[in-house]
Amino acid sequence: MEEKDWDAVAATFEEDIFSVPAHDRLKQIERLLDLHAHADAMAADVGCGVGGALPMLAGRFATVHASDISSECLAVAEKKYARYHNIHYYHADLAGPLPFPPVDLALCINVLLIAKRAKRQAMLANLCNAVKPDGHLVLVTPALESALYASHRLVQLNEDKGMKPAVAQRKAARDTTGLDMGILYMAGAPTKHHLKEELADLLEEQGMDVLAIEKLEYPWAFALEEAPSTMEPPMPWNWLAHARRRKD
Ligand SMILES: C[S@@+](CC[C@H](N)C(=O)[O-])C[C@H]1O[C@@H](n2cnc3c(N)ncnc32)[C@H](O)[C@@H]1O
Repeated sequence: MEEKDWDAVAATFEEDIFSVPAHDRLKQIERLLDLHAHADAMAADVGCGVGGALPMLAGRFATVHASDISSECLAVAEKKYARYHNIHYYHADLAGPLPFPPVDLALCINVLLIAKRAKRQAMLANLCNAVKPDGHLVLVTPALESALYASHRLVQLNEDKGMKPAVAQRKAARDTTGLDMGILYMAGAPTKHHLKEELADLLEEQGMDVLAIEKLEYPWAFALEEAPSTMEPPMPWNWLAHARRRKD
């Protein structure tokens, strides 16, 4: 999605866009933030959207820089979280350097979605450069493994409805044009999904030491329209990466 698409969705963002912070049932993101929270420390939410993660940062860090490519999303966040006086908002494309000094902790949730590798690589480089040496990055991305696992569960659901295996698979099939590069179509938009090992490689290439990459699970209803409310674990997941910037 482009800037204009994110602007268009700003008014209905909370209904239309899956909120990772709101579905962090096990508080995995907050637990990572707690490791680095400090009364003097500076944090950033890069691609903050309408600000779903801002309260968890504003309550833990002295200063929070919140940036997004969508001025409409930023306006919603700024209004909603006006009570936090330590948040500074920036209209900034992550494809260019960020307009605030490097931070102790950068949070970036489901922003590295664009299919074009060159632009996505520039975004990742700028994100990592926004972290001070020895500072930390908490990065969430869609997981390719999870998307493929969801296809398997959809085939099972179709078979449970009485479809023959071939039909069950055909009905569950998706557009695989970009699958080898981790590109899947989400509501029609080509969306990058990372493999765990791929994400680790990319972070290491950007001068980051990867401390952990764990599953951040979410409800089936957000992965499969057809999911019954009783659908059992394993749940679908995003990758939650925790990395430290190496000293130059
Ligand atoms: C799926 S939303 C996630 C929003 C927020 N991080 C959250 O978890 O609620 C993706 C966000 O990334 C922003 N975004 C997309 N491309 C961007 C870019 N090139 N630079 C900065 N922000 C971008 C969008 O405007 C949108 O707010």
